[in-house]
Amino acid sequence: MVDETAVTDERTEVERLDNEYVFGTWSYQSEVDPTEAVGGDGVRFTDGAGNEFIDFSSQLMCSNLGHSADAVADAIAEQAREGAYFAPGFATEARARLGEKLAEITPGNLSKTFFSTSGTEAVEGAIKIARMYTGKQKIISRYRSYHGATHGSISVTGDPRRLMAEPGVPGAIKAPDPYAYGSTLDPMESLEYIDEMLMLEGDTVAAILVEPIVGSNGILVPPDEYLPRLKEIAHDHGALLICDEVMAGFGRTGEWFGCDVFDVTPDIMTMAKGLTGAYAPLGATIVTDEIAEYFEDEMFSHGHTYAGHPVACAAGLAAVETYEAENLIEHASEVGDYLGDRLEELGEAHPSVGDTRGVGLFRGVELTADPDERVPFGTREDKLSMGSTVVDEVSTAAADEGVYLANMINTLIIAPPLSITEADVDEAVAALDTALEVSDAAMNR
Ligand SMILES: Cc1ncc(COP(=O)(O)O)c(C=O)c1O
Repeated sequence: MVDETAVTDERTEVERLDNEYVFGTWSYQSEVDPTEAVGGDGVRFTDGAGNEFIDFSSQLMCSNLGHSADAVADAIAEQAREGAYFAPGFATEARARLGEKLAEITPGNLSKTFFSTSGTEAVEGAIKIARMYTGKQKIISRYRSYHGATHGSISVTGDPRRLMAEPGVPGAIKAPDPYAYGSTLDPMESLEYIDEMLMLEGDTVAAILVEPIVGSNGILVPPDEYLPRLKEIAHDHGALLICDEVMAGFGRTGEWFGCDVFDVTPDIMTMAKGLTGAYAPLGATIVTDEIAEYFEDEMFSHGHTYAGHPVACAAGLAAVETYEAENLIEHASEVGDYLGDRLEELGEAHPSVGDTRGVGLFRGVELTADPDERVPFGTREDKLSMGSTVVDEVSTAAADEGVYLANMINTLIIAPPLSITEADVDEAVAALDTALEVSDAAMNR
C-alpha cells in the first residue's frame, strides 16, 4: 500500500518536526506551517528548498545588519569562549562598554542602562522604573501600539493581542493615536485628548508610553510637533515620557532613534531588536541622569539572571560599532528617501494602495478596498480570527516573487536591512508591483 502522507508531504524534515513539537506564536496551531530558513547573506536569506528571498522586513523588523555581519558573529564566538556568563553582580567589559556606548548614541542626558533579553522585558523594566521613580501607578499608552507579550507589557499594548490577556495589570489606560489616514481624530487633536485624560486622572499617572513612530500597528508617523508637545503635556502633569524604540531604533528611521527624528529626549527609552541586529537576544532600558540619581538611595528593585548577559552585550557592542563603521545610519536615510519615492510610485499605479508612509527604511503600505471611503481589507478583529486576509495574500504573492514581506492587519511593513542598495530596492519593488495585483483584483470581490 502507498503511504500517502509520504507522497503528499513535501515539507522538509525540519519543517515537519518543528510543526509537531514547537508552538507557533500568536496563531491557531492548525494554521501554523513554518518554512525552514537555513542561511543568509547580506539582505537576502535562503529557505530549506534553496529559494532565495530579499528580506524586505528584516525578519521581524530586527535584522537591521542583514544576515552576514561577521564582526557581530565573531564577537559572540569570542565572548562565548572567553567568558560566556557571569552573574549580574559582576562587571564585564562587554556590558560596561556597551552601557557607555548607549549613553553616547542616545539623545540628551539618557545615561544609565538596565540590560535584559528582549523588547518585552525592556518595556517591563521601563514600567517598573517609572512607577518606582514617580510613586504613581498608571501608564497611558495608545490603542495602536505593541509593547510586548508578558502580562505587564501586553496590558500596556493597544493592539488586539492584548484582548486575550485582559483585564491585565491594573492602571493600564489607553489613549487615541496619531493616525491621519485611518482615524477620524486629527493627530494633534488626539494629543489634546491625552492632555485632558491626564487632567481627569488627577496626579496618578506615572508615564505616557509611546512608540515615537508606531511600528507593527501600521508605521504611523506623527506630525513634527506631536512628540515635543506630548513630552510637554506629560511633564505638565508630573508624568514621564517613555519612548519605546524597540522597533524604531538603531537606524531604522535614518537616525539612531525614532525620537531623534523629532529632537525629543524621553525620560526613559527602551531598545532591543536592532540593538544586536538580532544576532543575540538583548533588551535595554536607559534612563536620564535624574532618574539614575534617584536610585542611588532608593532600591532598584528589578533584575534577571541574564541581565547584561556577556555574550548578548558583546553582540550589542559589535553591532553598534558596525552601524558606525559602515555608516549605516546615513545610508538608511539616503536609500530610505529612494525607497519612499519608489513606494509612492507603486501607490499611484495600484488602486488598492490607500496610503504609503514612513521615514527612512521604516515604511508602510496600507491597502484599501475603496480608496474614496478608505475601506480597509483587513480589520483589527481579523488579527484574532482564523484564515488569511488580503494583505496576507499579498505577502504570499511577494514571497512567490522572491521577497519576504511582513504585514499586520492591513499594512505591509517595509523595513529592510540598513545596507540595502537602490538596486535591491528596485528588485523588491518590482516583486511588490506584481504582488499588489492580488489586492487590486480583490477590490472587486
Ligand atoms: C515597539 C515594540 N516594543 C516591544 C516589542 C516586544 O519586543 P520582543 O518581541 O523582543 O519582546 C516589540 C516587538 O515587536 C515592539 O515592536
